[in-house]
Amino acid sequence: MPSDQDNPSALIDLGKHYWLPVYKPRELVLDHGKGARVWDTQGRDYIDFGAGIAVNALGHLDPDLLAALIAQAGKLWHASNVFYTEPPLRLAEELVKASGFAERVFLCNSGAEANEAAIKLVRRWAASKERPPEQRTIITFRGSFHGRTLATVTATAQPKYQEGYEPLPAGFRYLDFNDAEALEQAFSAGDIAAVMLEPVQGEGGVVPAAPGFMKRVRELCDKHDALLVLDEIQCGMGRTGSLFAHTDEAITPDIVTLAKALGCGFPIGAMLAGPKVAEVMQYGAHGTTFGGNPMAAAVARVALAKLASPAVLANVKHQASALRAGLARIDHRGDLFAEVRGRGLMLGAVLAPAHAGKAGTILDHAAAHGLLLLQAGPDVLRFVPPLTITDEELAEGLQRLHAALSAFAAD
Ligand SMILES: Cc1ncc(COP(=O)(O)O)c(C=O)c1O
Repeated sequence: MPSDQDNPSALIDLGKHYWLPVYKPRELVLDHGKGARVWDTQGRDYIDFGAGIAVNALGHLDPDLLAALIAQAGKLWHASNVFYTEPPLRLAEELVKASGFAERVFLCNSGAEANEAAIKLVRRWAASKERPPEQRTIITFRGSFHGRTLATVTATAQPKYQEGYEPLPAGFRYLDFNDAEALEQAFSAGDIAAVMLEPVQGEGGVVPAAPGFMKRVRELCDKHDALLVLDEIQCGMGRTGSLFAHTDEAITPDIVTLAKALGCGFPIGAMLAGPKVAEVMQYGAHGTTFGGNPMAAAVARVALAKLASPAVLANVKHQASALRAGLARIDHRGDLFAEVRGRGLMLGAVLAPAHAGKAGTILDHAAAHGLLLLQAGPDVLRFVPPLTITDEELAEGLQRLHAALSAFAAD
């Protein structure tokens, strides 16, 4: 049978014709991967500095993930939450133990669903305290990204994701990220039920919470009887060099959401609930057909164990230094990047004013030079490689980036 393998443009045309045109992928068709390297249908190889948007944390084709998936695929694919299967039971226990704060877990299929569950849990918690709906406000921060469902896109304090979807659900208020004073003032309204934030904002430009900010948020939440919800969907699961991004600040959240690297490429999300909220939602309060699917949970158990291992977390720290050093070398003249920021293997290179708005063009050059790279808005190159990336893969990725940036500069 003739195959479209040899003709990527014919495949791409299918997407252009049949997909709802909400995406604009780069014009290449990926076929297979190994470690931090991916090949397209033409046999060209790429170093993967994007990991499927911070998802493939163990790289591609990790043998242990593959074995777990195949073993479960040979037993039972799906059972629904009307019956028990072993993988989601074990995964929930392992997540609770790894978290150090959670008592219960709700398993779902994506980041947006984990955050949707968190938003609903906040509302139910406030309702259980007999707070009227107008006193169940959730504060989120400008530049945040929490998902694309109607509630999570409303939590996402960026108008570009919301425009045209009005009327948006009520009960959200936006503040500047890292502005503790504004938060203190907002609490004086007396209607705040929760503060929700990403310890490192991802889509909003790779912006870490300022040192001490999360601690202050925790104090204010405690003072005003509000919940602290941490969205660790992009920055969690080892990406910062700790399994959870909040532990370096030594704070205890009430709710943490996970997805992306939890399944390392198999769709799964989770909401972890601490003691204040673990018993709030009872039978019938929430649900999902696929959440806790045994295939996803079997993979996530292995992902969790490996991502929590000292070897992987040490590699994050080692490669993060190498990546920062490499970016500094590439920009030795200091005219490419205004700043490199982030934590661990979640770094953003902010383009210098002369190159503002050009991140997309640089990504085109990167792809042409065999490098898969992401942006976080028009002005920031985002680096979120597999946490298991090797010295050799990182060095090769940096070489390709250098070549791509030279071609960009020569344009
Ligand atoms: C911090 C954060 N929260 C939520 C989401 C939404 O996750 P999903 O796309 O799996 O719904 C994302 C996705 O990029 C994210 O980065």
